[in-house]
Amino acid sequence: MPYNLLKGKRGIITGALDENSIAWKVALLAHAEGATFVLTNAPIAMRMGEINKLAEKTNSKVIPADATLVEDIEKLYTEAMAHLGGKIDFVLHSIGMSVNIRKNVPYTSLNYDYFNKGIDVSALSFHKLLAVAHKMDAINEWGSVVALSYIAAQRAYPFYTDMADIKAMLESIARTFGYHYGKQKKVRINTISQSPTKTTAGSGIKGFSEFYDFADKQSPLGNASAEDCANYCISLFSDLTRMVTMQNLLHDGGYSSTGVSQEQLDAIIGK
Ligand SMILES: NC(=O)c1ccc[n+]([C@@H]2O[C@H](COP(=O)([O-])OP(=O)(O)OC[C@H]3O[C@@H](n4cnc5c(N)ncnc54)[C@H](O)[C@@H]3O)[C@@H](O)[C@H]2O)c1
Repeated sequence: MPYNLLKGKRGIITGALDENSIAWKVALLAHAEGATFVLTNAPIAMRMGEINKLAEKTNSKVIPADATLVEDIEKLYTEAMAHLGGKIDFVLHSIGMSVNIRKNVPYTSLNYDYFNKGIDVSALSFHKLLAVAHKMDAINEWGSVVALSYIAAQRAYPFYTDMADIKAMLESIARTFGYHYGKQKKVRINTISQSPTKTTAGSGIKGFSEFYDFADKQSPLGNASAEDCANYCISLFSDLTRMVTMQNLLHDGGYSSTGVSQEQLDAIIGK
């Protein structure tokens, strides 16, 4: 049920690859909540044309941009503001990729070219999205920027390899940039640390499906879905969370506060 939470707000949504993407669900919900926005993704991710279906459904424009390239991001903000008719109120960073994970390289012998690529795509892109907006003064006061993270930034998860370190950097950028942007322009910056979610990026991780089930059993509420994550993003883009900034917000059905669930113990005992 829409509440018109984003009525009159203008946004930029990155990372909608297909209908499983978390960003896809955020776009559908932002549209239902009255926002206008542009969609963006890397030019190579648009080959399948899926994003055009989302653009049609949400009456939004698609602006291709490689989030590792500052000049693409400058063009993105310029075209977004021209198309939407003013400065931006919310930005979703929903971008992640590790070549080491894709190629199954173990953490103890990472390929550093791949590692650098992962950092650039998944963490520095967040700094670049913020730094370009800051330089262009492209975000309105009380605007809200959200990026998506994972709990491996705080705790060891062997299968997450270099993305654990990269997500730690992402969360740190939210804090540090959040300080400067908040002080100067009252712009809010947060990360949402999301449950395992069945998307292209998620499912690319070896053993993901088993771990998905583990986390689901460990969480009193079960795993948070992509739709749940979209709801949380909308609340952070809305004026109802005006004083929330520089936070890493755990969105995981209680997973992170549970030592062990009875269900996991029963499974080990064979009950
Ligand atoms: N799926 C999960 O289990 C899970 C859990 C926690 C956090 N996250 C995070 O959520 C975010 C979204 O991922 P998702 O699960 O929806 O998967 P997804 O594969 O649907 O989205 C990842 C997106 O990143 C885009 N991307 C990659 N390189 C890019 C570049 N150079 N420029 C612009 N865009 C680029 C891809 O095209 C894709 O749209 C990621 O940051 C991911 O790490 C996912």
